[in-house]
Amino acid sequence: MKQATMINSAADAAQKAVADKIYSPRFYTTDFDAMDKISIEPVRAEWDAMMAEYEADDNRDYFRRDASFAAEVRELDAKMSPEMKQEFLDFLVTTLTSELSGCILYNDIKRNVSNPDIKRLMHYMARDEARHASFVNSALKDYGLGINAGDLKRNKKFTFFKPKYVFYATYLSEKIGYARYIKIFRQLEAYPEKRFHPVFRWFQRWCNDEFRHGESIALIMRANPELLKGPNLLLIRFFLLAVYATMYVRDHMRPALKRAIGLNPTDYDFEVFRITNEIIKQCLPILPDIENPAFQRNLDRISYCVQRGERAAASTGLFGKLGKAFWNVAGAAVFVRMYCIPMQSNQLPEFTLMQPSW
Ligand SMILES: [Fe+2]
Ligand SMILES: [Fe+2]
Repeated sequence: MKQATMINSAADAAQKAVADKIYSPRFYTTDFDAMDKISIEPVRAEWDAMMAEYEADDNRDYFRRDASFAAEVRELDAKMSPEMKQEFLDFLVTTLTSELSGCILYNDIKRNVSNPDIKRLMHYMARDEARHASFVNSALKDYGLGINAGDLKRNKKFTFFKPKYVFYATYLSEKIGYARYIKIFRQLEAYPEKRFHPVFRWFQRWCNDEFRHGESIALIMRANPELLKGPNLLLIRFFLLAVYATMYVRDHMRPALKRAIGLNPTDYDFEVFRITNEIIKQCLPILPDIENPAFQRNLDRISYCVQRGERAAASTGLFGKLGKAFWNVAGAAVFVRMYCIPMQSNQLPEFTLMQPSW
């Protein structure tokens, strides 16, 4: 396995969740006063339809284990190789950290704004993320590796993002999250014998929540079209490539997990890019040109630089530090090159909302 830290105890899992690596999920805070000024009036009809869906709450009782869950874990766990087990634990910790990241941010916004539309949306999204987080945490608890959300909130660094950065980042992570989960769900639907943990049985309705979260942010951006033009396009371009590259790097650090379910990490990631590109046509005027060979070439190079940087960081002394610094700069230079690849332009549709039909 290509990762520096192994997860053998609850302390290791907590440390992994707190870690502040370039590819690890972050916690965010924002400017609540600016958030208060957001208006969704131009999309009121679509907004109200979506609020009704949140209110109906189809997944109210969904995130509960069924009778066969524990036996399934026991049976499948015995067949997992140590390498796979480590990658799977890493996957659970990363997933939990991402779910908590959303949950904490959405809750903080809800508590600190008075704008009734934003407050209501944040209430629903935090509700969903809390369910997801607790479901994935219970899978970690089976291994004695449960993470205390309060401790994590106290110990993890928070990054300040202006509201527009929050919108770009959360929109993309909700949508790419949907694409990742649905792709895994469809694969295991076709090859149920490859399902090495019962948690994947919940992925379809889980990712429909993420899809809806993304729809909400899409509506906010469409209601405030200045967020989608002018110099903001440079920011959107940055966030798109950062989110795509982070996923690619992370997945190539745990290739065994994808292979276990019969997917090659590169093919899986490109399929996720294709799905995400289709979805984001609802509100982004530019799309990464994923078919351009230079796009993949640069992703491979970034992934290589990050892995070399990790290896250097694991060795002690000055050489380790210098090596890590060198590979960080090399990776950043490749990212700049990727940023220069022309984007595809996209004509926005009249209506924003889509169905999760993948
Ligand atoms: Fe979630
Ligand atoms: Fe979400």
